[in-house]
Amino acid sequence: MNEISTPRPNNLDAFWMPFTANRAYKASPRMLARAEGMHYYTTAGEAVIDGTAGLWCVNAGHGRREITEAIQQQAAVLDFAPTFQLGHPIAFQAAAKVAEHTPDGLDRVFFTNSGSESADTALKIALAYQRARGQAQRVRLVGRERGYHGVGFGGISVGGIGPNRKQFGAMLPYVDHLPHTHLPDRNAFSRGLPAHGAHLADALEALVALHGDTIAAVMVEPLAGSTGVLVPPEGYLQRLRALCDKHGILLIFDEVITGFGRLGTFFGSERVGVTPDILTMAKGLTNAAVPMGAVAVHDRIFRAIVDEAPAGIELFHGYTYSGHPLAAAAAVAAIDLHVREELPARARAMEDYFADGAHSLKDLPNVIDIRNYGLVAGIELQGRAGKPTDRAVRIFHRCFDAGVLIRTTGDIIALSPPLIVEKPHVDRIFGTIAEAIRAEAA
Ligand SMILES: Cc1ncc(COP(=O)(O)O)c(C=O)c1O
Repeated sequence: MNEISTPRPNNLDAFWMPFTANRAYKASPRMLARAEGMHYYTTAGEAVIDGTAGLWCVNAGHGRREITEAIQQQAAVLDFAPTFQLGHPIAFQAAAKVAEHTPDGLDRVFFTNSGSESADTALKIALAYQRARGQAQRVRLVGRERGYHGVGFGGISVGGIGPNRKQFGAMLPYVDHLPHTHLPDRNAFSRGLPAHGAHLADALEALVALHGDTIAAVMVEPLAGSTGVLVPPEGYLQRLRALCDKHGILLIFDEVITGFGRLGTFFGSERVGVTPDILTMAKGLTNAAVPMGAVAVHDRIFRAIVDEAPAGIELFHGYTYSGHPLAAAAAVAAIDLHVREELPARARAMEDYFADGAHSLKDLPNVIDIRNYGLVAGIELQGRAGKPTDRAVRIFHRCFDAGVLIRTTGDIIALSPPLIVEKPHVDRIFGTIAEAIRAEAA
C-alpha cells in the first residue's frame, strides 16, 4: 500500500471531492462540523451564516427536528424495501404528498435520488412518451446554453455548460440548444424578471424548421441557477410553452432549484405562470436531509406510456433507491414543514428586502450586474484580467472567514439563503459581501 491509500485520521487524500479544486482545497481546508437553523458551525466552532441553503437545498433551515425524527422513526421501522414489483406505504404517501403541490395535472411522481437522475429520468420519459403515442421519430432533445441539469450523460448533453462537457467525449446524439437568455447590455441591474429577451424563445422555431417533427422535448430551468442566476425575461417562458404546444414538443422544467418555495411559490412554475408537461425536483424535496429527487409527470403522459402498454413492466427505468423509506419519510416531513410554516409565502414576503440588499451593492467596485427573483440573487463581478474566477474565489474566502457562506460560479456570486432567513441575516450577508468586494477592488 502506498502512503496515499493508507487511511489515516484526518487525512484528506482519499476523498476525491466533487466540483472542487482538490489541490487548493486540501492545501487550505475549510470544514463544516454542524448546522442549525440559519448557521453552519466550523470545526473550530465559528458560526457561519448560510447564504446558500447548503447547495440551494436546505430550504427549511438546518437541523429541523421534525425531519430528523421522521427519518429516525422510519429507519427503526423499515430500513429498506424494494420498489421494483413491491411497495411500502411511505413511498406512496410521499408521492401523493408531492402531487398535492405540483401544478394541476402533473400528479404522477417517479422517484430518483438526485437532480441529475431526475433530469435523465425526465428525458427518458419524454422519449418513451413520444414513442408510445406513435411519434417514434421524435428523438431529439433540446436544452439551452448555460443550462444545468446535473452530471449524467443526459444532463450534460442537454445542459449547456462547456466545462462540464469537454472532458467527456461525444455526449448524446440528436441534441440541440436554444440561446441563453442573459442580455447584460439591455437588462443589467434588473429587479425581478428582466424586460427584454422573450424573443429568444423563437429560436425553437428555427430548430423546428431545421429538424421538422423530430424534437421530443425541450428542457430548461425556469430560473437558471448554477450558471449564475439567469432570471427568465418577461414573457419568455410563455412563448416557449406556446411554441412547444404548436409543434407537439414536451416542455420539461428542471425545478431542482426553483422547487420548494425558492421563488415564493411551492414550485417556480406557479410563480412564472407557466405549466410544463414534466417537472423535475430534488434538493428541497427532503430539505436535503436524505438524498432524493423526483419527476412529476402529466397524467396524460403517464397514461400514454402505462395504460397503453402490453401487460408487464411499462417503463424500463428505475433506481434501487427509488422511493427509499428514509428519503420518503424525510420528504413527507419536509413538505409538511413547508405547509405548516408557509415557507413559500415567507420567502415571497422577504423577497423585496432581500432584493434591496442585493441591489445596494450596485455602486461597489467591479460590480457589473445584479439580478434577483424570489430568494435568489446573482451579483456579477468584472473578473481580474487574465485571472478568471480569482476575484470571486477570494471574495468567497473573505466572506467565509468573516462568517458568511456565499457561492460563486465564474465571477458571479449566487445567493439562495434558507427560506427562514430574517432581516438581520440579510443585512449581515450583504454587509459582509460589500466589505469583501471593497477589499478585492484592486
Ligand atoms: C437545475 C438543476 N438540475 C439538476 C441539478 C443536479 O442535481 P444533483 O446535484 O442533485 O444531481 C442541479 C444541481 O444544482 C440543478 O441546479
